[in-house]
Amino acid sequence: MSEGILLPTLARGTLLPESERLARLDEAMPQLLEAVRDETDEVAVEATLACLLWQTLPQANWCGFYRRVEARVLAVGPYQGGMGCLRIPFERGVCGACAREEARQLVPDVHAFPGHIACDDATRSELVLPVKDRGGRLIAVLDLDCPHLDGFSAAEADRLQGLLDHAFRAIG
Ligand code: SME
Repeated sequence: MSEGILLPTLARGTLLPESERLARLDEAMPQLLEAVRDETDEVAVEATLACLLWQTLPQANWCGFYRRVEARVLAVGPYQGGMGCLRIPFERGVCGACAREEARQLVPDVHAFPGHIACDDATRSELVLPVKDRGGRLIAVLDLDCPHLDGFSAAEADRLQGLLDHAFRAIG
């Protein structure tokens, strides 16, 4: 049984240059995919990815899932980091926008995003990605927060979306 991602451990909050972040993500990707391969339980996949992405993305101060629990309401799921708010309606925040539009929200400066929900005042940037099941139904969002401006790039978002699309394809 592996203890997690085989990558150098960096101090929490370390923002590497984008090229190094992508190299780290590319190295971790086969391990991430293998860890959840064929798993059919949504929470098992979410908990495992929250754990392993936390190790892969040292710039994150929060890493986890909000699950769709009503037609237009998200509730917090497995995560790493400080306590997150418990429920987010589709009308609110970056996570709500992602769920509502079923589209990636790459926010380089959360203070410039109207309606951003500040669970942690230290958060300065954010990436939220839609999670869909086998049938294409939105079941959750992946929320990544960073204490630095511009903590996530479009290329990281592309790779992470590819991971989610694979990891949840046995669900539903
Ligand atoms: N910042 C998010 C809320 C969730 S937490 O930060 C963990 C948002 O605006 O959707």
